[in-house]
Amino acid sequence: MHLIIQHIGQLLTLTSPSGLSSPQPSPKALGEGGRGRVGSSMSELGIIEDGLVAIENDKIVAVGKTSDLKPKLKLLPHTKVIDAEKQVVMPGFVDCHTHLVYGGSREDEFEMRASGVTYQEIAARGGGIRSTVKATRLASREVLKRDAMKRLDRMLMWGTTTVESKSGYGLETKSEIKQLEVNQDLNELQPIEVVSTFLGAHEFPEEFRNQNAEGKNGIDREGYVKLICEEMIPKVAEAKLAEFCDVFCDQGVFTPDEAIKILETASNYGLYPKIHADELASVGAAEVAGKVHAVSAEHLLYPSQTGLELMKQAGTIAVLLPGTSLTIKKNYAPARKMIEMGIPVALATDLNPGSCTIENMPFIIGLACLYLGLTPAEAICAATYNAACAIKRGDRIGSLEEGKQADLLIMDIPNYRYIPYHYAVNYVKTVVKRGKIVIGS
Ligand code: NIG
Ligand code: FE
Repeated sequence: MHLIIQHIGQLLTLTSPSGLSSPQPSPKALGEGGRGRVGSSMSELGIIEDGLVAIENDKIVAVGKTSDLKPKLKLLPHTKVIDAEKQVVMPGFVDCHTHLVYGGSREDEFEMRASGVTYQEIAARGGGIRSTVKATRLASREVLKRDAMKRLDRMLMWGTTTVESKSGYGLETKSEIKQLEVNQDLNELQPIEVVSTFLGAHEFPEEFRNQNAEGKNGIDREGYVKLICEEMIPKVAEAKLAEFCDVFCDQGVFTPDEAIKILETASNYGLYPKIHADELASVGAAEVAGKVHAVSAEHLLYPSQTGLELMKQAGTIAVLLPGTSLTIKKNYAPARKMIEMGIPVALATDLNPGSCTIENMPFIIGLACLYLGLTPAEAICAATYNAACAIKRGDRIGSLEEGKQADLLIMDIPNYRYIPYHYAVNYVKTVVKRGKIVIGS
């Protein structure tokens, strides 16, 4: 035993007495890593008052009431004991949707949006994702790494212990691989675990545009989809550079048919499907999520009823990103409807240089309560356990249980409701990652 945290005011274990099940999930989307909590079980934080957590190496070895466990635990000379009276201990936040690695910045677009130009108008003028692609292609692996490290340092201070990171600002094989290699490097350099997603289908690159191509708007759509399926996916899979494959399926980007082709190809190469779905308009992307048994469908501002039903049947997790709605002044996803239907809901920042620059999960939890209609307990479940399931890690992180990885936070607050209530304040006092204190003492 090397670390004991005792007399915890509220210990949020995130274990659920009523179980984690969603009805009839499809075996394919189920897999390992947990399905995510649904309905009323999202509100069960498994709170223990005057709690204790004991850690050995990188694992949790005991969780319970201080009075029950204390007499049974053997204190060794090197055991560190922390008293967390009147404080909250909870799992580290899992930011399950980010675009962490990118070159340049887009404060010019922020200024334009502030004066009324929309995100889509900026994209149509060649800005948006395409402007970050130019900067990312030009940036060296070293510079991308240095800048992403700064973001991760700040994320850790706000209590994030695991981050999903998508490529998608290269849009050519070598630059996509460069972004994914940076993800790999980051795992060696700092405490947050970085989980890689290949998002070559984030936009159509310049070299496939304006070539008198037969495709829509002068874009050689078929040519780029072919490059993704025949070159990028096989290379990324062979080099084991990503676990997931994502597609931006929306108005002005990839169509449902293109998304199905890419995600089915990726599945055949062992990459699990994810999808940026129906963020800008209702294009049938939630349906695609269900059809390809996506692990998660993300954004979902305008999903159709059929799409939501297919997602539910497939066991697809809805990853909601209220920071993006706030930043680009859009609607918010119909979260209550999803919870009522029994779809597991997760939360993430969507950190990226254009549509959301938020790095802070407590702020996202606050937005989820204010604008998605989640209760504080549901939002915490969505930002920890359900977010872990959205990256197939619910069996290892996202809750505090014996045998799980010791990723946890000590928050200097009297109860968990303070997280959304004081949503712009940092109450993280201590961060423990894989059993080591990495912030605080
Ligand atoms: O998730 N929606 C697509 N992609 C990003 C935006 C990327 C950008 O604007 O650079 C998102 O919001
Ligand atoms: Fe995104």
